Amino acid sequence: WPTTASRSGGAVTIGGVDVRDLAKQYGTPLYVVDEEDVRSRCRDFRAAFGGGDVHYAGKAFLCKEVVRWIDDEGLGLDVCSGGELAVALSVGFPAARITLHGNNKSPAELDRALAAGVGRIVIDSFEEIARLGAAAARRGVRPKVLIRVTTGVEAHTHEFIATAHDDQKFGLSLGSGAAAEAVRRVLELPQLQLVGLHSHIGSQIVDTAGFEVAARRLAVLLVEIKDEHGLVLPELDLGGGFGIAYTEADEAPDIKVIADGLREIVAKVCANAGLPVPRLTVEPGRAIIGPGGVTLYEVGTVKDVEGLRTYVSVDGGMSDNVRTALYGADYTARVASRVSEAAPMLSRIVGKHCESGDIVVRDHWLPGDLAAGDLLAVAATGAYCRSLASNYNYLPKPAVVAVKDGASRLIVRGETEEDLLRGQL
Ligand code: LLP
Repeated sequence: WPTTASRSGGAVTIGGVDVRDLAKQYGTPLYVVDEEDVRSRCRDFRAAFGGGDVHYAGKAFLCKEVVRWIDDEGLGLDVCSGGELAVALSVGFPAARITLHGNNKSPAELDRALAAGVGRIVIDSFEEIARLGAAAARRGVRPKVLIRVTTGVEAHTHEFIATAHDDQKFGLSLGSGAAAEAVRRVLELPQLQLVGLHSHIGSQIVDTAGFEVAARRLAVLLVEIKDEHGLVLPELDLGGGFGIAYTEADEAPDIKVIADGLREIVAKVCANAGLPVPRLTVEPGRAIIGPGGVTLYEVGTVKDVEGLRTYVSVDGGMSDNVRTALYGADYTARVASRVSEAAPMLSRIVGKHCESGDIVVRDHWLPGDLAAGDLLAVAATGAYCRSLASNYNYLPKPAVVAVKDGASRLIVRGETEEDLLRGQL
């Protein structure tokens, strides 16, 4: 739950705002973001990685207002498409603090990034080296690049979001020598300025050993690059992936402890080889925007399936949060509009879509007197919910509202039926 969430007069408040008022003013489903929670996590990351760079990974959730918060807090921004880049540039985010990612950046995206003057481009394939080299030569610029290295770490997370083992689409593998070959090819192109190495081992990682193994392997590669090319690369970008607590049973890893551990490992490898310690960058998305987000739903029907559980249907579902259906993610929920003393019933919170896998919270104990019109709040939906939202079954995407100091503010308008029909011929 967001740090400012509490109860007052029976109802849940977030950022000092009663969720009943939010539902009345903006409708449901509604994404609520606790601005102070997000900003304080930005500061925690900056403090933990002091001296390094923290880049917010916009894929977790990006909109103009969030870009302004990130800018305000002095973070950089990681974008992975022309669209994300456009959002950042639309509010004047300094291009020099942007890193462009992607395993298949189009020539147009690369050119646009060069035109804007983004600070870093992370190279993901051999084709891209040539493609970026040509684009840079055409523009007469010399972009700073990093090479994304697949370190072979088996991150303990869902298969779909683990990214450092060899058999997946991202990066250039360390084990096969592809990463070292990419370094050679980049160095052959005078129009590319190689400044470092990058690794992202996966997402929602709570066992932090994987980060350390990846950091050590990258540091060793830095040493090999120095030996082979006499070149000292100044930057190591260790990606994102820091896990958060979704339910009461989860424990989020301590960012400060991770930061200290990583710094120590990299420093040791470099010191042994007589290399200066590189600047460490991280790219947290979920750990910044996830915990401060809450989705508000209104209960529509409550169906008791004899002897099994109660199905509580809400007015959204897999179109506003696909994570339960896609990754088997766990969430927790509360009745947000009142306090109930009724005995709890084993419940499944489901959406209104046309499939039985449309589940928001798989199993949860909710009060037995839950009824249509009650508001439910689902915690930790700030990351990868709105950004993965769809219009399945022609449901409009819900609005996003920021709350802070007792006031609320619309930051993304909810879609209307008109929006859904736009573009159809
Ligand atoms: N850097 C790179 C290169 C990435 O690919 C990602 C996430 C991040 C940073 C940020 O990772 P984070 O700190 O947010 O874990 N849709 C999935 C997550 C996909 C993550 C993709 N890449 C989910 O809902 O769990």
